[in-house]
Amino acid sequence: MSLRLSARAVIRPPILNSRGLATATSLPKVSRGPTGIVLLNMGGPSTIPEVYDFLYRLFADGDLIPLGRYQEPLARFIAWRRTPKIEHHYEEIGGGSPIRKWSEFQATEMCKRLDKLSPETAPHKGYVAFRYAKPLTDETLKQMQHDGIKRAIAFTQYPQYSCSTTGSSLNELWKVTKSLDPNSEIKWSVIDRWPTHSGLVKTFAQLIKDKLKEYDEKVRDKVILLFSAHSLPMSVVNRGDPYPAEVAATAHSVMRELKFTNPYRLVWQSQVGPSAWLGAQTSDTVKSLVKKGQTNIILVPIAFTSDHIETLHELDLEIIKETKVEGIKRAESLNGHPMFIDALADVVHSHLKDGAVASNQYHMQCPMCKKEVCSDSRRFFLSQ
Ligand code: FES
Repeated sequence: MSLRLSARAVIRPPILNSRGLATATSLPKVSRGPTGIVLLNMGGPSTIPEVYDFLYRLFADGDLIPLGRYQEPLARFIAWRRTPKIEHHYEEIGGGSPIRKWSEFQATEMCKRLDKLSPETAPHKGYVAFRYAKPLTDETLKQMQHDGIKRAIAFTQYPQYSCSTTGSSLNELWKVTKSLDPNSEIKWSVIDRWPTHSGLVKTFAQLIKDKLKEYDEKVRDKVILLFSAHSLPMSVVNRGDPYPAEVAATAHSVMRELKFTNPYRLVWQSQVGPSAWLGAQTSDTVKSLVKKGQTNIILVPIAFTSDHIETLHELDLEIIKETKVEGIKRAESLNGHPMFIDALADVVHSHLKDGAVASNQYHMQCPMCKKEVCSDSRRFFLSQ
């Protein structure tokens, strides 16, 4: 049976530059002024009282967890049910998520580097817009308007594109822009994915090498590297979401950088609810390997750019600590590593130099997507 793309699936054919980036529309020309760079991410509650609101927004997001026409009441119910347990988890990792702290640090340090790398677009001003926690997209946009920003880059902090993560953040940014900036005073371009950026890959490889040094030389090259990424419902995967392929591309690039010194697998974590999710699950994989006597394992969080509950609680406490096996460790997260900050600055600098409003891939919707918001938000960003 042949697959046919719906008329809505392709916005328009892009013209590619030498680096495969779309230039059908070039970066918006605006008068000289600060360049706003907005780091998009899911966010996390910085304090315990923010947990319910965070969970409610998360489960109310049909782009992330499709719950059908009862999404809103179900979101309230699930958030209410899960809040005490999740509050306890945040208490166990120090009273809140560090993702805001890291994101603000990354934005500030990245902009310092960009001011030197790209004086023609300076000054650069970093912002953070979270999908489910403060600062939310509307708060950030209001701040940008207050700061007089006229040119901005939406820079996803999910290096691998999924419609449930980056797509959701961009849909939200488009909705908020429609109401707060109806005359499009701010001109946008988008960094929608960067799964195999050399700086990203090299930083992951360095963090793995650092962790491998903790093992005896005799077993070092036998240590199994388990790249762990947030899973997706199979309903999202089967819509044609690009995320699994892009996460695999990152893992493979990191292994190539490491010269394939160790055996490795890509596994998936953080499944919720009874429906089918992409596997194998990280926790099941670790248990199974340990049962087989393979007890030297490094977990590598490959789809997060900073620590949050999925690394500090799920990997460190629920899997590593509970397993009580000395040889099971976790590679540090990217957080404030100088190589990673350099990488962030380079991604933005290349984007500015290339003059593309988005990647070629961003022009195409998932083959099975029927959501108007996906085509409307693309049309908005690609027409800047
Ligand atoms: Fe992927 Fe709409 S769900 S483009």
